[in-house]
Amino acid sequence: MALYDWIKALHILAVISWMAGMLYLPRLFVYHTGAAPGSETSETFKVMERRLLKAIINPAMIVTWLAGLYLAYEGGWFRAGWFHGKFALVILLSAVHGVLVRRLKEFAADSNTRPARYYRILNEVPTVLMIGIVLLVVLKPF
Ligand code: HEM
Repeated sequence: MALYDWIKALHILAVISWMAGMLYLPRLFVYHTGAAPGSETSETFKVMERRLLKAIINPAMIVTWLAGLYLAYEGGWFRAGWFHGKFALVILLSAVHGVLVRRLKEFAADSNTRPARYYRILNEVPTVLMIGIVLLVVLKPF
């Protein structure tokens, strides 16, 4: 069981890093909408966004997935009701990740057309999913 607990610790560390990035990147987009395309500020935001994605968000997501699937396999959780719920929410979170990558590419190409309000709303989605995921895995209500 010791290895299971070590992998769970790794999973939680990776989750923290992934979520930190998933909550911060749309916030950077909110500020980025206020910077004129081509301006020095806009170029700085591009660097910050790219580094956050490549250095933190992407690797953290991969480790979260690998460690999570190991836990599900080792713990025999694939048949548990709560796990199905968690899995659905985690798929949605990964889809939001994909949306963020597309938006980042638009900003990088100076082709963003969406207002700050869009990114403020997008910012709330990972928060809501995170709350659902943590409640399901900790409380295991079904
Ligand atoms: C990416 C796919 C994921 C899979 C396959 C997965 C799977 C799992 C499994 C099987 C466990 C072990 C449960 C136990 O031993 O009781 C676990 C623990 C945990 N997961 Fe995930 N997880 C994933 C993503 C996430 C995400 C995105 C979050 C948070 C936003 C999260 C938060 C947690 C927490 C807090 C625990 C520890 C729960 C406890 O020990 O009580 N997981 N995960």
